[in-house]
Amino acid sequence: MKALVLSGGKGTRLRPLTHTMPKQLVPVANEPILSYVFRHIQDAGIKDVGVVVSPETQNDVRKFLGKGSRWRVRTTYIPQQEPLGLAHAVKTARPFLGNSPFVMYLGDNLLAQGIKEFVETFRSEDLDALIFLKEVENPQAFGVAVLNKKGEVIKLVEKPKKPPSNLALVGIYFFSPSIHKAIDRIKPSARGELEITDAIQELIRSGGTVRGEVLDDWWLDTGKKDDFLAANTIVLDGYIKHDVKGKVDRKSSVTGRVQIEKTAKIVNSRLRGPIVIGKRCEIVDSFIGPHTSIGHGTRVINSAIEHSVILDRCHIENIARLEDSLIGREARVVRPKNHSRALRLLIGDNNVVEV
Ligand code: G1P
Repeated sequence: MKALVLSGGKGTRLRPLTHTMPKQLVPVANEPILSYVFRHIQDAGIKDVGVVVSPETQNDVRKFLGKGSRWRVRTTYIPQQEPLGLAHAVKTARPFLGNSPFVMYLGDNLLAQGIKEFVETFRSEDLDALIFLKEVENPQAFGVAVLNKKGEVIKLVEKPKKPPSNLALVGIYFFSPSIHKAIDRIKPSARGELEITDAIQELIRSGGTVRGEVLDDWWLDTGKKDDFLAANTIVLDGYIKHDVKGKVDRKSSVTGRVQIEKTAKIVNSRLRGPIVIGKRCEIVDSFIGPHTSIGHGTRVINSAIEHSVILDRCHIENIARLEDSLIGREARVVRPKNHSRALRLLIGDNNVVEV
């Protein structure tokens, strides 16, 4: 079995972060999302991984994944010149996939339980497709599935205005090579894309066996800010262990599960987990509260931060309270000491500032 990781797309819903980094590399608990994806693929024992990349972001993705040796896999890069849909990505990857069954994993999806057990299910049940479903409150934002009483998938629709169920299609799919023929038979959707949802629907129509597995555990599509913060919270809650390697001075207190990298310095501050603090960070006279990730090289001075993701090399100073925030690399959020009520802003395109 091979894996196909989709790591293209423009990331419009995570702008402005995605002006300078692919959405698949935005870190959750200080680890790019793609590294969770690759860990799952490694755990499932898959060795051959095709990575579909776009011209805009391929350099960063290639730099991060390299040949895949960190996860003991072999990567093959497959450029997709235009974002013409998930089924189009499979079509583009056909020379790599050959006649092999494969798992397609969208590079901005995070799944609690990994995919190992499903590799076995897919093999032993001789399926044409195994898809995953999750109950959501906003099914119109996803592909949506309808199951019959036996739990078989009978219908799939992409982002319907009136959803026929609340079961969203998770961005992880197992396919036999019969998906290629189904893709050849579908036409682009109203948004001009070859939809994988339509291809699976076509597989069902032509008599293929498609099974839907409803997930109990969490699944997140990290493509948007709030989902992204939710992903960070869940990963910090579930996976962070107490591991203080950096320097914490006597005036500071650290409670709960807090991970501090070796070269970080904590001075006269209160830290309450679950949180992660990256390499070379400096936290001075501050409070860092639950569900916060502080990226590498970031300085936080005289501030309080909670339930936020601050990326690398930021500078936060004199901010009484920062919460529910996502702050991109090298950003400065500073209130001058003798500040007047005036705000002085230098803000890039597509930013959001709530004051
Ligand atoms: C894609 C699929 C959709 C699926 C979603 C999961 O949507 O088209 O069916 O539910 O991924 O993340 P996108 O996020 O690319 O709009």
